Formats: sequence, C-alpha cells, structure tokens
Amino acid sequence: MNDHMTKFKVLALGGDGIGPEVLEAGLAVAAETAARAGVELEVTHDLLHGAAWEEYGTFCREETLTVAKESDAILVGAVGGPKWDDIRVPGGPEMQDGLMRLRFELDTYAGLRPTRHWPELSDRTPFATGVADGADIMVLREMTGGVMFAEPRGQDQRNGTRYAYDTAGYGEEELTRIAVAGFELAQKRSGRLVSADKANVMESYKLWRAVVNEVSADFPDVTLTHMYADNCAYQMAMRPTEFDVIMGCNLLGDLLSDLAAIVSGGLGMLPSACLNGAPGSVSHAIYEPVHGSAPDIAGQGIANPVGMILSVAMMFEHSFGRPELARTIEAAVKSAVAAGMRTPDIGGTDRTKDVTDAVLQRLER
Ligand code: NAI
Ligand code: MG
Repeated sequence: MNDHMTKFKVLALGGDGIGPEVLEAGLAVAAETAARAGVELEVTHDLLHGAAWEEYGTFCREETLTVAKESDAILVGAVGGPKWDDIRVPGGPEMQDGLMRLRFELDTYAGLRPTRHWPELSDRTPFATGVADGADIMVLREMTGGVMFAEPRGQDQRNGTRYAYDTAGYGEEELTRIAVAGFELAQKRSGRLVSADKANVMESYKLWRAVVNEVSADFPDVTLTHMYADNCAYQMAMRPTEFDVIMGCNLLGDLLSDLAAIVSGGLGMLPSACLNGAPGSVSHAIYEPVHGSAPDIAGQGIANPVGMILSVAMMFEHSFGRPELARTIEAAVKSAVAAGMRTPDIGGTDRTKDVTDAVLQRLER
C-alpha cells in the first residue's frame, strides 16, 4: 500500500447466487470512484466456488490463486448453494469451499465487519425506539483458524452409532496476531475492546484469553473487557450502543457479526474486509459483503447491493490507502438510503440497479 500509487490490480470473483449481481454493482461504484480520483483499476474476472465447480470441477483454481496473490485487492460477491454442499474433494476443510481456500492461501486472518445503526432503517430493526440509536460496532473475526480449520475432524462410528467431531484449536502466534489487530482497531476507534470467548469451559479459549491479556500490556490506552460469548450476544442485543470493537474466533466472530447486523436493519447492508495484517500493514485483502449467496432471491435483480458497495469503500481505505474515497462512497450510499432507495429486504421496491444508479449519481455530484 502506497499513498502515491494510482494503479491497482483487482481480482473480481462473483461466485454464486446473488454474488455476481452485487459484484456488478460494486464494480460500477469502484470504476466511477476511481475514474473521478484519477486512479486506474485493472480488473480481472474469474469464477469461484460453485461457478468454478461447474466450469472446471474445482472450487478454486490454482490460476485463480496465482492471480489473487498478484492482485492489490480481491472483490468477492458470495459463494455457496445446496447444489454443492455435499461435494467432498481431497484435502482439508479449505479445499471444500472456494472462499475458505482463498482466505487460507492468502492468510487473511483479520475479518473486519463494521455495522452501524441507520436512522432511516430504524423501523427495520427489532429494537425498541432509541435502543440502537448511534450504535456503531466493529466485529473482528479470526478468519483462517480455529474450529473451521483445525484437525482432526471427521465422521465415523462410536459404540455402533454415528459420531462426528471437530477440533477447536489455536496456536499462540495465530492468537497474538488477531489480538494485536483487535487492539490496533480499538485504538483507531473509541479505545474499547471486548474479547468474546468461552474460557469458562474450553481449553482453546483459556489460551485465547491468556494471550489477549499478554498483548493488552502493549496497549495501555485500550480498555479491554473479556466476555463469555453467550453473555456477549445477550448484551449486544440489549445494549448495542455500549460496544465498539468486539473480537472473536472464527466461529464466534461469524455468529456475532450476523447478530450485529440487526443493528443496521438488514444483513444485506453489511460490508467486510479480510486482511492479512493489522489495518495499515496489509498486502493481501479480500472484500466481500457479510451475507451469503441468498439462493432464495438469486436471479431476480433485487439483491441489496449496499453491503458490496460498502466493501468497495473498505477496499479504497485499506488496500489503496485512500480513506477519503471510502468516505465519499459511504456518503453517497447514506444519501441514497436517506432519499428512500431500498431493495425489498429492507422494506422497499427498488431493484439492485436502481439503488446502484442512485449511488452512482451521488458520486457524480
Ligand atoms: P444468506 O446470507 O445467503 O441469506 C440469508 C437471508 O438474507 C436470506 O433470506 C436472503 O435472501 C437474505 N439476504 C442475504 N443477503 C441479501 C442481500 N444482499 N439482499 C437481499 N437479501 C439478502 O445466508 P444463507 O441463506 O444461510 O446461506 C445461503 C448460501 O450462502 C449457503 O450456501 C451458505 O453456505 C452461503 N454463505 C456464503 C457466505 C459467503 O460467501 N461469504 C456467507 C454466508 C453464507
Ligand atoms: Mg456468516
């Protein structure tokens, strides 16, 4: 990342379901933003997960990984669908899912998932009036380890009946780097960090908590609170405004970031970034909305593009070193939503293209 760079390579992977639909919206906003700022984007398109399986019989091609490693940023729509859920290919868990493979190979361990209250969408949230007003939360999810990757895992027989198992394990180095990312994020925000774990009942979380405590010594300006994840979920739903950065393992971060989405009024509103370093020292990054491929609405042109468009804003900030362009995109989205532009998931009748065009018009002003 370099402030003086004006040319960036972007790998665009639509994926499955609504993935390609929202990616198109994100790329249109990226192109307009770049053109207006004199930034040149070289975009390469490829297939991922189900789409790649249909074409090439693999969830992620080696060529795709090569291009990904040479790119400044990767934009992903979303992946997955029932058609591919039961396919098993040789290799570890990362081989079973194109997006997990990409995260794993690029080592993008820090998953930033910001969510905030949108006053215009207050009536789309389950909160009593005022409870979520001003809520602004950053969930930091560990993306490349923990129970979703650790071995052994499998299914067999025990005592003559079926048995299935996974391993929840983390190494010290993995824990240290995610903790550092959490403290650095908190430093750049309001200085409050909640670490969610289940250290009361699980060994891997006891080490998680110990390492977070050790790292905290280097960040005396950050107020650290440990919370058991079940209580954390409860407190988030009751008092969302009291949270700033919430850090969790791959599994808990996944759950807590979908929970945090209720503050915004819709899962389709949420962006994310997966970074291979703490913000400020990023060389590989994947930007994608938090939502999945939404097979129930795919192909209808009604997917909410906001999560994807805000992910593009995160790309300008974290991979291109242009936070002011990120703010410009966010302001355009905010203005479009304030003007009443809404896809059906957030209570409107607008189509993906209408919302995207409304954002583009506001960038042009
Ligand atoms: P999902 O996020 O795809 O959908 C959940 C609900 O939210 C659905 O009712 C859907 O219509 C709605 N929704 C999600 N995004 C939306 C958008 N942009 N606009 C309007 N409505 C939206 O989660 P689900 O249904 O559990 O999973 C579907 C598939 O997506 C599965 O194959 C799953 O594995 C995959 N998935 C992929 C992710 C990724 O690529 N990062 C993340 C989560 C799930
Ligand atoms: Mg999820």
